[in-house]
Amino acid sequence: MSGRYVVRTYGCQMNEHDSERIAGLLEADGYAEADDLDGADVVVLNTCCIRENADNKLYGNLGHLKTWKDAVPGRRVVVAGCLAQKDRDTVRERAPHVDVVLGTHNVHRTAELLGSVESSGPVTEILEEAVVDDEVLFPSALPVRREVSHSAWVTIQIGCDNNCAFCIVPAVRGDEVSRPFDDVIAEVQRFADDGVTEVTLLGQNVNSYGRDLQLARRRAGDVDARPRPLFADLLGAVGAVEGIRRVRFTSPHPKDMRPETFEAMASSPEVCEHLHYPLQSGSDRVLALMHRGYTAERYLDRLVEARSTIPDLAVSTDIIVGFPGETEDDFERTLEVAAAAEYDYAYTFIYSPRPGTEAAEAVDDFIDADVARERFDRLRVVVERSALARHEARVGRVEEVLVEGPSKRDPSVTSGRTRQNKLVHFTPPRPLRAGSYATVEITRGAPHFLEGNFVELLVEATHRTRIPVLSL
Ligand code: SAH
Ligand code: SF4
Ligand code: F3S
Repeated sequence: MSGRYVVRTYGCQMNEHDSERIAGLLEADGYAEADDLDGADVVVLNTCCIRENADNKLYGNLGHLKTWKDAVPGRRVVVAGCLAQKDRDTVRERAPHVDVVLGTHNVHRTAELLGSVESSGPVTEILEEAVVDDEVLFPSALPVRREVSHSAWVTIQIGCDNNCAFCIVPAVRGDEVSRPFDDVIAEVQRFADDGVTEVTLLGQNVNSYGRDLQLARRRAGDVDARPRPLFADLLGAVGAVEGIRRVRFTSPHPKDMRPETFEAMASSPEVCEHLHYPLQSGSDRVLALMHRGYTAERYLDRLVEARSTIPDLAVSTDIIVGFPGETEDDFERTLEVAAAAEYDYAYTFIYSPRPGTEAAEAVDDFIDADVARERFDRLRVVVERSALARHEARVGRVEEVLVEGPSKRDPSVTSGRTRQNKLVHFTPPRPLRAGSYATVEITRGAPHFLEGNFVELLVEATHRTRIPVLSL
């Protein structure tokens, strides 16, 4: 096939990573990326359904795309991702102009399905569960089109075996399956050979990585299947790949946090000093209703252990306010834990009922929207206070920064990330290529970023950065 495409991605890094595969598959099939919607023949919407506003946004965009499609014969609309997986029929009903609907386990079929539209008309293909074929589960052999050449995502696990009462992810991403250890290392090795210096290991519950692999080995009679958690080993092994300077991972689950993971973070110099540690609520009562498997005290104890094992650790989190039945007292526990945890940053959400999940049934306990909004605002104040304090405490330090490119707000300024994943703005004496490493002396801390003065260039990147795709 030939033509031009755009991919628009909603949701988390899993989806961003799937979008790289979709773009790679289309390019391998002869498509080229379009600069904008007007220049495109194919639009792929890779969707998310984690909260209700994600659904609404999608249907709004699909409405606009009808006009776009009708303007030029032969234009195609593809809907992929988690919302397609969940609501294939609604997508078809509300947007009959969609040509291809494909699920989270069908990414590898994107180009073929699109090719079939010409002869067979609109097509829907959704697998309920991942096909147990490593190439399809973890499509590392599929083409990939990455936005930047220095950084890469590596899937180590798909799906989720937890049942958090608010969460739709297990329903749309299936059971938890770990990718074989050697395959992960082999992919990291390939990336490193290609000039990648930073990898982010992806999974919904990364620190339970390998549990299923070990169980399978034991069932097969392997008495040596190691009792040690494989995630800690994986961190060390990824860091040891020649050429890798930074290893990140997201997301771990507090209930599965083990000292071995902290020790691996501390002993592997490549693993960055940043832990995303999702709290969700500070109330034990709400945590139990959510089925999170830990108490606030246990959460904080492990955080203390993490900070004492890993020097200079940055900590971020996810918190939901207004979970069904959350009282003012419950919410105050959340404020207390958030203050005690002294987060560097936090993603905060107002609870959004997702049909099919347990919490969505508790209609009588839903929290009034104004109360939830007010709690949300109070929580932001607490989080921003600790973020600012932690950022101001970095003033005067010299930090290693991985250059991302010109700042979005002011292109005369360069932006990059520290090992603690903090955004830093600075002005080098000459433009630095994305992917270069420099040191920067921090001069100012704001709640969401740092500013600093360039000190020296450590590594000049040789790869060219690709320009990010449009937004709709
Ligand atoms: N696997 C990750 C979370 C993935 S979803 C983990 O366990 O940490 C990312 C975040 O979205 C969650 O941590 C949660 O804070 C938020 N979230 C999930 N479902 C939600 C819902 N129904 N309403 C509001 N926020 C939600
Ligand atoms: Fe959702 Fe919980 Fe699984 Fe995270 S661990 S994806 S919040 S069910
Ligand atoms: Fe959204 Fe699916 Fe990720 S629901 S948050 S894109 S796993």
